[in-house]
Amino acid sequence: MHMAKGKEERKGVDELSAKVINLAGRRFLIVPNSEIYGGAAGFYDFVGYGARIKRNVENAWWGRFVSGRDDVVPMEGSIITNPKVWRASGHLESFNDPAIDCAKCKSRFRADHLIEEELSLSVDGVTMERLEKMMRENKIACPKCGGALNLIKTFNLMFKTSIGAGEGSDAEAYLRPETAQVIFANFKAGLGAGRAGPPFGIAQVGKAFRNEISPRNFVFRMREFTQMELEYFVNPAKLDDCPSLSEAHLKLEIPLLTPEMHEKGQPAKKTAVGDALSHKTIGTKWHAYWLAECVMFIQSLGVRPENLRARKHSASELSHYSSETWDVEYNYPWGFRELMGVANRTDFDLRQHSAHSGKELTAFDEERKLKYAPHVFEPSFGVERLVFTILLDAYSESVQKEGSTVILKLSPKVAPLHAGVFPLMKKDGLAQKAREVEKALKAAGLDVEYDDAGSIGKRYARMDEVGVPLCITIDYDTLSNDTVTVRDRDTAAQVRVKISELAQKIRAGSA
Ligand code: GAP
Repeated sequence: MHMAKGKEERKGVDELSAKVINLAGRRFLIVPNSEIYGGAAGFYDFVGYGARIKRNVENAWWGRFVSGRDDVVPMEGSIITNPKVWRASGHLESFNDPAIDCAKCKSRFRADHLIEEELSLSVDGVTMERLEKMMRENKIACPKCGGALNLIKTFNLMFKTSIGAGEGSDAEAYLRPETAQVIFANFKAGLGAGRAGPPFGIAQVGKAFRNEISPRNFVFRMREFTQMELEYFVNPAKLDDCPSLSEAHLKLEIPLLTPEMHEKGQPAKKTAVGDALSHKTIGTKWHAYWLAECVMFIQSLGVRPENLRARKHSASELSHYSSETWDVEYNYPWGFRELMGVANRTDFDLRQHSAHSGKELTAFDEERKLKYAPHVFEPSFGVERLVFTILLDAYSESVQKEGSTVILKLSPKVAPLHAGVFPLMKKDGLAQKAREVEKALKAAGLDVEYDDAGSIGKRYARMDEVGVPLCITIDYDTLSNDTVTVRDRDTAAQVRVKISELAQKIRAGSA
């Protein structure tokens, strides 16, 4: 438990999320699901440029964690699975949040969130008993009507559904609350599909569902969201045998926060991953490797390093399956919170599924000639949360005489388009020439969009707002010498480029 930012301070910076949420709605990037019917709390739809940004983030992850490697098997698992999976994983029993009801107006809240809001504290990892005590000691009342609150109770986050026409417990099923378990249940198939045994991973991108008591902060906490998860299986005798760990990983400096520092309210300390390993702050080389990989990936999407830190879970905060977990946290307008996590799940899941299914889920150690249950390192990302983080980090305003304009400084890796294509005027064959340039760039595999509406300044502003890095203008010189102007979003600098070199220069980021 530690002090967070004061309420007043948070109100000021919260303007940033209000601005990003406003932009997302105004430009139809992310909209409330089924809004025409009043929406559904915790459900959002990604549209247009928003859908493009989300897909780019997923593709970047896929490129780095799956197709760019030779030790990861991709998979696409079902959302609904045999409910025995959730009994074995522990989700039916322990995937709970602390709920509290108002005795007067009957509204339901998440007790830990109420305490955090009332006392400006972070209560990550605090037990139910302690939360209850804090509620009573601080006389926390219903934020809606001021009524008295009942005792805290556990609320299971699993979404129930049923399979087929049957009734009762025979037909009972659940939407998956994480993609991970479908991977564990498929361990044998993944092992068979891969070219070699551990160390190897199985990865998937897919929907997860959690019946959150209080979805909040836009797409930060939703009831339906997308996870990008990798379960990486390692021989427990070789947790420190990590050929992938390079000098770059060891030298990477990350602000690290241990439970002891967190408890004392100390700030995170910039530490090289190699030093954290030597001091056993990070327990094993494979854990250090995956933590560094994830931080590098997040930074490669343009998120500024100074807004990130890695926090190690305390013993009381650790999930039932984990021996060590690091959250990569972002400094959100409402304080440092989990962006993603890297857990050491040990052999918990494989052993559980083995015990419940009666099937052996092991690999074979050729050197020692024995079977073993691999241990699992799990880098787990939520896509929507990562997209929101990227938008918050990239949002900027440029103040001009006519008022301020928004510039979304997105990395070209995640930007919704490579470029906008504009004719200076619609007349004199400029529009036709611009259409030809658009067609040629699309044929070269680039995402571009033609726009001839309004002044050039307005067209630049529309592209800046949604983070398109380049704008290409076809003018009268184009007709005589086949060159165009290319304007950079962040510097507003313009250069002339030959049409024949345009695609290659855009791709190389050198236009
Ligand atoms: N398999 C491990 C697992 O699911 P988690 O910390 O519960 O771990 C992993 O979730 C990531 O999924 C989080 O770091 C976050 O990015 C995302 N996530 C979790 N709950 C979410 C929610 N309700 N809405 C949006 N994203 C969520």
